[in-house]
Amino acid sequence: MKYAERVSQITPSVTLQITAKAGQLKQEGKDVIGFGAGEPDFNTPDHIIQAAIKAMYEGKTKYTPTPGINELKQAIVKKFRDDNGLVYEPAQILVSTGAKQSLANAMLALVDDGDEVLMAVPYWVSYPELVKLAGGVPVYLNGSPDNQYKMTPELIEQHITPRSKILIINSPNNPSGTIYSREELSAIADVCKAHDLIIISDEIYEKLIYGGIKHESIAAVSQDAFDRTIVVNGVSKAYAMTGWRIGYLAGPTGLVKQMSSIQSHMTSNPCSIAQYASLEAIAGDQSFVAEMKDEFEARRDLLVSLIEEIPEVTCIKPEGAFYVMMDVHQLFGRTYKGTLISNAMDFSDQLLSDQLVAVVPGEGFGIEGFIRLSYATSKENIRKGMTRVRDFIAALHKE
Ligand SMILES: Cc1ncc(COP(=O)(O)O)c(C=O)c1O
Repeated sequence: MKYAERVSQITPSVTLQITAKAGQLKQEGKDVIGFGAGEPDFNTPDHIIQAAIKAMYEGKTKYTPTPGINELKQAIVKKFRDDNGLVYEPAQILVSTGAKQSLANAMLALVDDGDEVLMAVPYWVSYPELVKLAGGVPVYLNGSPDNQYKMTPELIEQHITPRSKILIINSPNNPSGTIYSREELSAIADVCKAHDLIIISDEIYEKLIYGGIKHESIAAVSQDAFDRTIVVNGVSKAYAMTGWRIGYLAGPTGLVKQMSSIQSHMTSNPCSIAQYASLEAIAGDQSFVAEMKDEFEARRDLLVSLIEEIPEVTCIKPEGAFYVMMDVHQLFGRTYKGTLISNAMDFSDQLLSDQLVAVVPGEGFGIEGFIRLSYATSKENIRKGMTRVRDFIAALHKE
């Protein structure tokens, strides 16, 4: 069978590969510590689950309008106004099957063959693949570690070509946990204006920011930025609802109509029951979010302090999301029980096979020399897992 050309362009998700290998070892009865998770380890709050059950008993089990039920779109409009100072009409909102589909809709509606989409490295694994699926070309902006790998106006300028069309910004960032200040966003928005770039702002980790720092949306820095930005968000990370698959976006009415039309032929509406659950998540009691955030912050502090105790590795303290990037490049060239560790992929592979600790190598996020550790796991697991990481590193031999 001859597959379509686009299939050969797609790289399988490294995150899912590691998760599959870790899952297999667990099934074999091995005591695997997972630092690979891309989802909160909490269950969805009870009031949200109850709202879904109620919706089912009320017969809300049918197709809904493709862009989502009106009540949910209204709740999202209110959320954008209250949280981000962004004023949208319900017609500017599109609810989808996860923020991943929101991003896919945006790419399909905007990217023509050969159009270039700029993104900072490290990036979330799916951005380049979604761009390529739409026929576009990902353009990688390699920022400086001294600036937490953030994109800057200068870096963007250096990569502008006549085919530059979109800039993706992800704050807080997965995998680095970096966030952008209003001033930084404002400067980036100015460059986007100068080169007429469309901005896609992925704000899915908005609710998970630590140390009292406030989330800023690039769409809020000016009227021009508002007009050229598609804001993507969802309930997966904020409400521990990854399995429910509800994401949403907001943007210019005409574009949202086109994206809704694409979605109508792909999947129609996102799950009706999950939409009612998301309505409760967004409009209901928010106390869970604060509790989860406090727990994540304590775990971040614990994980960072344990990393700091290990010689020859470093990390940048993340300000948001639930990941830490650990710099392990100084250990390359050493051997572990006779096997050469020459990159983060080898490091992660050996760590999982031998010490039963699952981490994601930086290669999946376009960056070499790092591994990503997710702290969406208990403090006990963090302590246990980091003891194994320390032992693994101590056992590396210089040839
Ligand atoms: C940066 C980022 N954006 C978007 C998503 C997609 O989230 P979902 O499709 O679950 O809403 C994820 C999930 O890992 C993510 O990390």
